[in-house]
Amino acid sequence: MLDKDTVTEILTSSKNFIHHIGLDGPDGSVDRRKLKKFGEVVGFAEQILKAADTLLRGDNTVFLECSCGKSYLSFVLNHIISNTYKTRTFFFGVDINKSLVEKCEQISSALGYKNMQFVHGRTINFQPDGTVPEGLYQGKVDVVIALHACDTATDEAIAKGIKLGAKYIMVVPCCQNQIRSQLRFSHPLISLTEFGVLRYRFADILTEALRSQFLVGAGYHVELMEVVPPKLSPKNILISARKTKGRGKRGMKQYLELSKIFKTRFKLQDFFPELSRELN
Ligand SMILES: C[S@@+](CC[C@H](N)C(=O)[O-])C[C@H]1O[C@@H](n2cnc3c(N)ncnc32)[C@H](O)[C@@H]1O
Repeated sequence: MLDKDTVTEILTSSKNFIHHIGLDGPDGSVDRRKLKKFGEVVGFAEQILKAADTLLRGDNTVFLECSCGKSYLSFVLNHIISNTYKTRTFFFGVDINKSLVEKCEQISSALGYKNMQFVHGRTINFQPDGTVPEGLYQGKVDVVIALHACDTATDEAIAKGIKLGAKYIMVVPCCQNQIRSQLRFSHPLISLTEFGVLRYRFADILTEALRSQFLVGAGYHVELMEVVPPKLSPKNILISARKTKGRGKRGMKQYLELSKIFKTRFKLQDFFPELSRELN
């Protein structure tokens, strides 16, 4: 299995690659100003490669990067996997910013990749555009990933992953605005959340707990970890979910308990009207 140092070594040994994905500085190595993003991408890529190692030893693995932006993560994974694994891969990227989607297409063709497709639109509405080379995509997405998808865009990535039946859903969230304002109102820990800084931090924890419990309820085994030290980036929590057989006995019980305690209205559940009886 590849560790962080090996991933870094593979990436930095190709100045051409670093240049094309736009992380290079004047001397061709990683730009000092982009070391934070580089560290986050490497730390996240390491965990994806670790989690999906068995999958990557199979024939064909399909990734979907939600809110891909410049798609650093997909380009890095594609570079690493094509250099170290025998599996064929296909990468979809989706983003609401059309110019970034076009930029990703340009980078992909400059690097000579034939296994990437970037789609303009909201994550939740993502559909492949039907021009994927035959054999590379058979209507299933194995791994859904998202790095710093703003606020509820992370919930879209999780919802999309569940709906697609992805084997792995791995997200490193960004800002957690939706819950913060809701914590102003009555709940048992109001004396904790009346202080701005503590409300801010507690909202982060509660948001990731709600997402994780929702994934558990949807039939995933969930682990949380830090992809980089908090000193490098405070937005460093990875929710790593692996699909299990069935939805398990407890279903959404824990998720519901948590949202009842804090009286939260959480965006993620809005993507599942079919669960409204269970969730309300
Ligand atoms: C903070 S950037 C992160 C970009 C990239 N993942 C990275 O780490 O460099 C957030 C991205 O999410 C995109 N975005 C926001 N809401 C979205 C949605 N609902 N569906 C798809 N993309 C979205 C934005 O256009 C932006 O490119």
